[in-house]
Amino acid sequence: MTSNKFWKIAGWSVVAIGILIGGALIYLTGFKLRSKPEAVKVEITPERIETGRYLANHVLVCIDCHSTRDWQLFSGPLKAGTEGSGGEVFSEELGFPGKFIAKNITPFNLKNWTDAELLRAITEGVDKRNMPLFPVMPYPYYGKLDREDIYSIIAYLRTLPEKAVTPEPSYTTFPFSLIMYMIPKKAAFEQKPPKSDTIAYGKYLVTAAVCIDCHTVARRGKIDRTKAFAGGREFIVPPKTVVSANITPSVATGIGGWTPEGFIARFKAYDPKVNPLPKADNVGFNTIMPWSMYAGMDSLDLRAMFRYLQTLEPIENQVQKIR
Ligand code: HEC
Ligand code: HEC
Repeated sequence: MTSNKFWKIAGWSVVAIGILIGGALIYLTGFKLRSKPEAVKVEITPERIETGRYLANHVLVCIDCHSTRDWQLFSGPLKAGTEGSGGEVFSEELGFPGKFIAKNITPFNLKNWTDAELLRAITEGVDKRNMPLFPVMPYPYYGKLDREDIYSIIAYLRTLPEKAVTPEPSYTTFPFSLIMYMIPKKAAFEQKPPKSDTIAYGKYLVTAAVCIDCHTVARRGKIDRTKAFAGGREFIVPPKTVVSANITPSVATGIGGWTPEGFIARFKAYDPKVNPLPKADNVGFNTIMPWSMYAGMDSLDLRAMFRYLQTLEPIENQVQKIR
């Protein structure tokens, strides 16, 4: 055999083995996503719409990602009139394994989705075509909430005015395009604690608002649970990099010295309905912390979150906010 011929055969064998392994992976993982959405029908009541509006705008902040944001202003508030039309981009330049574009979640896109399909997308990360969603859409957290809260959000989404916009499709780079199939998991719904159980209720809200994900250092998108809430995760917000704060109760480096009133006031300071948000240029940096959305949270809910955060193990971690 000439060496030329040898390399030709060897080359093709590698391609063939690659195709076989890839095929097997897609078969196995694709098989997993053939999970059927469970049979549910969400009755739309005025109470559900109201609760859903509150949760989707101010706690789970669906509307934050699924709208166009004005990055000229501090914390990137949404541009009026774009609610639910999608468009926020999570790209390779920002450190993501691909380009993920938040979808239109108004009835323009979702009217052919059943309630069961929506529940599955929001809490398990499997879309209508049985394909996995990228977990910047925080379904791993939403799958730990009370299904009644998700029903309220579904009811609310059904009432959004239709926006005839189709954001460009997302794409995933290899190998994440395969890894992504492993992430959707059956939801494990929990009951929402009563408001009177302040700390448990605060913990539920902190999960729903996904505070931990930004406020914990991560490697390749996976957070380091031993440093939960100690801050230090970096986000590129051009032209600078902003670093999340330590929100454990460390007095020296976290929020251990804060009062509940100070915590609430800090959030309320960014309510665009009360004060116009400053220009980011005037502040000197911008942040991806969705202050303007959380500012609409009920003060008692903010207080419950603070009370819960104060029960965490304090972790010493001095963070420099801007790099
Ligand atoms: C941090 C940003 C973020 C938040 C918060 C968020 N999403 Fe998403 N969502 C995305 C992105 C990005 C995608 C697209 C993912 C992809 O293409 O793989 C997406 C996809 C979806 C889809 C799939 C739509 C389709 O056409 O395939 C639905 C439905 C959805 N989100 C609903 C919600 C709801 C409801 C909430 C709140 C409970 C929410 N999202 C919160 C970023 C977000
Ligand atoms: C999308 C990412 C993101 C999410 C979600 C997020 N944060 Fe933040 N947060 C940041 C970043 C980045 C900073 C630092 C820049 C700034 O002050 O805005 C910050 C700052 C803060 C600060 C200011 C601390 C200080 O010392 O000034 C507090 C308090 C805080 N976050 C609490 C929370 C809580 C509570 C939640 C959940 C309800 C939350 N954050 C969700 C990214 C996030």
